[in-house]
Amino acid sequence: MKSVPTMFLATAAFFVLLGMIWGIQMSATGNHDLSPAHGHLNLVGFVTMSVMGIYYALTPAAAASKWAWPHYFLALGAVVILVPGIVMALTGKGEALAKAGSVLSVVSVVAFLAMILKFGFGNQK
Ligand code: HEM
Repeated sequence: MKSVPTMFLATAAFFVLLGMIWGIQMSATGNHDLSPAHGHLNLVGFVTMSVMGIYYALTPAAAASKWAWPHYFLALGAVVILVPGIVMALTGKGEALAKAGSVLSVVSVVAFLAMILKFGFGNQK
């Protein structure tokens, strides 16, 4: 079983790989209609999850807490629901999934804030 920081960072790397392939596909076809979804995959999936992974790597008490894995799956679920939700919203197929993904994204960041306040950052209280 991989650790929480490793899973956050491996997932982030996977998302940016997908995001870059998507970006190249948009550039190659000249169709940028879905660029907001690409942007959110990279920023919520790669940048945000990387910052969280680095936080857990530097704060072992947070990574060892019972909240770390639920937070990982919350952050993962937020991206997996938000990005297709934005695609659906952009293509006129409804906004329900985007709304659900948005709420999950906010809850994930609230959980991140709670972790920082409870465990500090690294050895800083
Ligand atoms: C191989 C790498 C990448 C390629 C080829 C690529 C390509 C593109 C293209 C073609 C657009 C549309 C531009 C437009 O219509 O004006 C775009 C938008 C964007 N990209 Fe990327 N991208 C790449 C990586 C990234 C990464 C790593 C990030 C963030 C960490 C990122 C964030 C964004 C954002 C925020 C937008 C604007 C979204 C919007 O219009 O709402 N991209 N990208």
